[in-house]
Amino acid sequence: MRILLAGGTGQIGQILEKEYVNRGYKVFILTRTPVKENHILWDGKSVGKWSEKLEGLDLIINLAGQSVKCSYTKKNLKTLYDSRIDSTKVLALALQKTKQSPKLWIQMSAATIYSHLFEGFNDEFEGNMGFLELPKNWGFISKLARDWEEAVNFVSTNKTRKVIVRMSFLMSPQKGGFFSICSKLSHLGLGGSLAGGKQFISWIHDKDFISAIDYIIKNEDLKGPVNFSTPHPISQKDFMKILRKEWKIPFSLPVTRTMAKIGAFVLKLDTQLILRSSKVIPRKLLNHGFSFQYPHWKEAVQDLVTRYKQKI
Ligand SMILES: NC(=O)c1ccc[n+]([C@@H]2O[C@H](COP(=O)([O-])OP(=O)(O)OC[C@H]3O[C@@H](n4cnc5c(N)ncnc54)[C@H](OP(=O)(O)O)[C@@H]3O)[C@@H](O)[C@H]2O)c1
Repeated sequence: MRILLAGGTGQIGQILEKEYVNRGYKVFILTRTPVKENHILWDGKSVGKWSEKLEGLDLIINLAGQSVKCSYTKKNLKTLYDSRIDSTKVLALALQKTKQSPKLWIQMSAATIYSHLFEGFNDEFEGNMGFLELPKNWGFISKLARDWEEAVNFVSTNKTRKVIVRMSFLMSPQKGGFFSICSKLSHLGLGGSLAGGKQFISWIHDKDFISAIDYIIKNEDLKGPVNFSTPHPISQKDFMKILRKEWKIPFSLPVTRTMAKIGAFVLKLDTQLILRSSKVIPRKLLNHGFSFQYPHWKEAVQDLVTRYKQKI
């Protein structure tokens, strides 16, 4: 297999590159700062020499976009937006020009396209979109995901199958990832419930993430948006409780809504990352017959903590 990962130097790209190189696949990475042999320079906003690499590929996965772990200032919101929309549009343009078009384009999007929800579930068929949500930044993040998805069809690229991954929180033992941040907070005694902890977290284990990508590659009838989350979102309170138990941390102080807002401000994060309730179901994958190795948080945590200790 010949695979191109646009924005493949980040958390998800590293997981995919490691997996695919181990399997003997040929992996190319589009990056703004090439440092390795398989890195190819692009700027994420204009078609350049990099586009030649698209010829005859089996798969493109577009992961590019400034990290959402930042304060949502006007300037940062613009960069969050432009880095995703521009890079997706430019890939579509480059793809349109290929003679031997890639077979499949997997485009990252986010489960934050859906509304803040406590009761029921959001899925690909009947899910509510969160475009009008308040605070305004929450609505903005949903609209960003919608425009990101629409940018895939900016120009017609009919010869390539397109799948949009509505990604929930990826749980992997990597440094700087969501799991490692939550684990560190727990060790500092700050791993308690946040603002009551009733908000749901939608998540997916890294091994299930890779299996779901494999499943998409294999099943050529799968197209359009596909939710990447386990069928069992969990409340923030239970999420942290199970995590603490696995780390053998007996107690953590609960954090009030006001403290959470101050904490988010100090850590230069937005409240939507910690207070928004994400209750997403992977209906398309389930209906199609995909099965999760780690559907429940308890088993997922056992695996993640073991691998975190072993630095895998
Ligand atoms: N990880 C998750 O749990 C999660 C959940 C939902 C959605 N997602 C989405 O999935 C995608 C991949 O996630 P990730 O965790 O791997 O993200 P990441 O670690 O932040 O990596 C994203 C990559 O995008 C590139 N990038 C950053 N700013 C850019 C810009 N202005 N123009 C072009 N490229 C830029 C960077 O590559 P270079 O600096 O090398 O160019 C970076 O390595 C992201 O778009 C993210 O929003 C992730």
